[in-house]
Order: sequence, then structure tokens, then C-alpha cells
Amino acid sequence: MKQIFFFCILTYQAIGQVIIESSQKCLCVDIQEQVQCESINCYWDEKCLENKCENKKQAKCFGECQWSNGQCINYNFNCNDYSTQKSCDQQSTCGWSTQEKCLKFEKCSEYLVTDPNLCYSKGTEQCEASTTIINGKYQCRDKVNVDCGIITSQNICNNSKQSSNIKCRWKQSTDQCLAINDINSCENVKDWQEMCDTNACVWLNNTCKTRECSSFTIQKTCKYIPNYAQTQISICVWTEDKCQTLLNSNELSQDQCFQNTKGGYMWINDGCVSCHAYFLNIITMLIIFIFLG
Ligand SMILES: *[C@@H]1O[C@H](CO)[C@@H](O)[C@H](O)[C@H]1NC(C)=O
Ligand SMILES: *[C@@H]1O[C@H](CO)[C@@H](O)[C@H](O)[C@H]1NC(C)=O
Repeated sequence: MKQIFFFCILTYQAIGQVIIESSQKCLCVDIQEQVQCESINCYWDEKCLENKCENKKQAKCFGECQWSNGQCINYNFNCNDYSTQKSCDQQSTCGWSTQEKCLKFEKCSEYLVTDPNLCYSKGTEQCEASTTIINGKYQCRDKVNVDCGIITSQNICNNSKQSSNIKCRWKQSTDQCLAINDINSCENVKDWQEMCDTNACVWLNNTCKTRECSSFTIQKTCKYIPNYAQTQISICVWTEDKCQTLLNSNELSQDQCFQNTKGGYMWINDGCVSCHAYFLNIITMLIIFIFLG
């Protein structure tokens, strides 16, 4: 009786298209192969570990990590670690000051720039150039909400917003600045080619359409398709020399299991199992053992 119950849980599969939440990933510690390990941003050092400084040996301890007292610890960058304006401007929390130093970003109006476009890189997309000129330099200011439609410069358009959550974006085919509003699927994109995300959608006959597995014509690219918001993926599988929608995860081979699910499923005991379900099964089994065992 107990065995039958386990069997039912372990072989449960959803019927229909196989859709996985993008956040669902196998745990680093459960992965046995380097390629799989690195493909979901875990860290490989003879075994698969979480990509954290504390797991790294001295030779791999750099960048956001630092070797100190025989161990690898997190390194927190300070703005004054950046000695050039270019590297400083790339950090949203820092800004290149009038004293030619990289300092922590405080407010837009502190920055005087030679090229008004430089204001866009100060802060977290929050500054723009004002018309105030001091000693031949433009003073930056907090971004003001504008009606996208009145903007005629591509660069100003791409860096402007109409309200706190509606940004402007340039549409090349009509030379217009438009608000990115209500675009949450390939079909909503309509004829705005730049907004047609090439992973989720295909551009066909001057309109944006949701991608289907059949749009992949070689085995190598036939894996999965994200939705427009990139929150989920639907799985494809190469069968009968075609890329087709996967209806049941049992149809994935050992090679396809991990990579076609973007690391959401894993090959365990001769089957392709959802790591999420696998984890829940272990918990379920433990509970059953405790109560029935
Ligand atoms: C503005 O955004 C559009 C759409 O993404 C892009 O094609 C264009 O190159 C951008 N222009 C500038 C100046 O950044
Ligand atoms: C492309 O669009 C035109 C006009 O909307 C339509 O007549 C034609 O059938 C479409 N072609 C394809 C391949 O969908």
C-alpha cells in the first residue's frame, strides 16, 4: 500500500503543454555535471555548489568576492573604486562628480555635464538634463514626466517616461516616440517591430506573433519558449525531424531533460522529473515515513 502511494506521487505528470515557472530551478547540490551546473549559474568546483563567494577557492575568488584571512568573502564595491568616468557612470548608485571623482549618487542636481545625455546615466534612470547651464555645463535634474508623443529625439525618447511606470520608446518605422503601454504579449506589440521580443515572439508579415515550437527548424535551437514577460517557459521537443510542443515531460530524453527545461527538470531514476515536484516528493515521503513508518 505504502509503495503504491509513493509510486503514484513520483510518476504524477501534468497533462497538456508543459509550462514551467522561470523561477523553478533544480538545486545546485543536486546537479552532477559541470555543463548543467554552470548553465543555471551555479558554481562548479569538482561538484556543483551555489555561486557564492564562500564556496570559492582563492584562484576563483575575484570580482564581487575577495580573499581575506584564508577565506573568500563578499566584496562590496565603493564608488571610489571606479577611477574613470566611464566605469563610474555605469554604476547606477554612483556618479562622476564635478571634482572628477566617483562618488555615491545623492541627487540629480549635483551633476554638471558637458553632454546633456550624460545626465541619463546618473542614478537609477532618474535624471535628465535641465536647460540650466553653469560654467558652460548642463545641470542635471530629476526626470519630469512628459507626454511621449511630443518628443522628437530618439535618445531623449528612449530615456523618458510618461508616468512612474510608463516609459517612452522610439518606433523606427514611423519615426515616433510612443508610450510602452499595455504591451504584455506578442500580439499586443502589433506592428512595433522593436518591441517584438525575438525569444518569445516571431516577426511575420509585418506583425508580431507568439512563437511556436515549429518556428525552430534545427534540433540545436529546439528547447523552450519564454512568455513575453519572461516569467514562464513552455517546452519544445525535437521528434520526427520537427520541433514540436512537448505534451508530457516523459517524452524528454536524458539529454533533453535538463536543457530543454532550462534546469527545471532533472533525470532521476530513468525519468525526467520536475525538481520542484522532486523536492516536494522528498518532503511528502519524509512525512509519510514519520506518520506511517
Ligand atoms: C531607441 O530605442 C529603439 C527601440 O528599442 C532603438 O531601435 C534605437 O536604437 C534607440 N535609439 C537610441 C538613440 O538609443
Ligand atoms: C500577410 O498579410 C496580408 C495582408 O494583411 C495577407 O493578405 C496575407 O495573407 C498575409 N500573409 C501571410 C503569409 O500570413
